[in-house]
Amino acid sequence: MFERLREDIQSVFHRDPAARNAFEVLTCYPGMHAIWIHRLSGALWGMGWKWLARLVSNFGRWLTGIEIHPGAKVGRRFFIDHGMGIVIGETAEIGDDVTLYQGVTLGGTSWNKGKRHPTLEDGVVVGAGAKVLGPFTVGAGAKVGSNAVVTKAVPAGATVVGIPGRIIMKSSDEQEAKRKAMAEKLGFDAYGVSEDMPDPVARAIGQLLDHLQAVDGRLEGMCGALKDLGSDYCAKDLPELRQEDFAEVKGEGDSPVGR
Ligand SMILES: CC(C)(COP(=O)(O)OP(=O)(O)OC[C@H]1O[C@@H](n2cnc3c(N)ncnc32)[C@H](O)[C@@H]1OP(=O)(O)O)[C@@H](O)C(=O)NCCC(=O)NCCS
Repeated sequence: MFERLREDIQSVFHRDPAARNAFEVLTCYPGMHAIWIHRLSGALWGMGWKWLARLVSNFGRWLTGIEIHPGAKVGRRFFIDHGMGIVIGETAEIGDDVTLYQGVTLGGTSWNKGKRHPTLEDGVVVGAGAKVLGPFTVGAGAKVGSNAVVTKAVPAGATVVGIPGRIIMKSSDEQEAKRKAMAEKLGFDAYGVSEDMPDPVARAIGQLLDHLQAVDGRLEGMCGALKDLGSDYCAKDLPELRQEDFAEVKGEGDSPVGR
């Protein structure tokens, strides 16, 4: 539990240049409080204590102005900056390293039961006041501009702005977007691995990330095959990558979405 807490706090330092120390993050970041309360409400929801889960979630809303339905699935190092006026619907799914600013809605456009809210893949950033509405996917590393209204799927690495949301920048290459998401996971400056920056070390790291991704995919396939054969070899978790171990190589204040 403390490991997750440390990870949450580190994720704030990586994405908010205004954060000064861990005590400040623990006490003054409503986005963090909302996420912790959501972990409790989500656990209660999973155990079938639906009303209690809603009550806890509603308490979190009073406290922070951030409404996360207990049924919403949230990944690791989720960061809500400023908070207030955020709504995350029941069937929303949020990957790792996702950032939301104040006033964001991950909502639905229909009253049908079933999946009706968006899925945000790893590393997505949603700007202040943006509305992402419907059961589609916003691909890894995509950015949604402030005040955009997005009602259609967004490809990995793309930037969407305006009403209705239109793509202004599409990743030249989906591989590049996946690489960014993987690099973000490792705490490496994803923006360093681009064609505009012919740094040989950054390029070499980029190649390594591609290779790591390919090996990951191959391992996943092998684990699936082993499981089908009745083996529990892959049941054990791999050791976690700890973001703070990479902290020294991460640049500061280089996000296009910072304060
Ligand atoms: C969408 C966003 C990520 C794009 O950042 P970027 O990749 O650096 O892109 P640029 O700033 O170079 O803008 C590219 C173009 O999109 C336009 N644009 C950028 N953001 C826009 C927005 N939210 N709505 C409409 N147009 C936008 C720019 O005017 C520019 O247009 P031009 O090419 O005609 O000059 C960023 O503008 C944004 O909205 N980030 C969210 C920030 C936020 O919510 N911060 C809250 C802090 S409290």
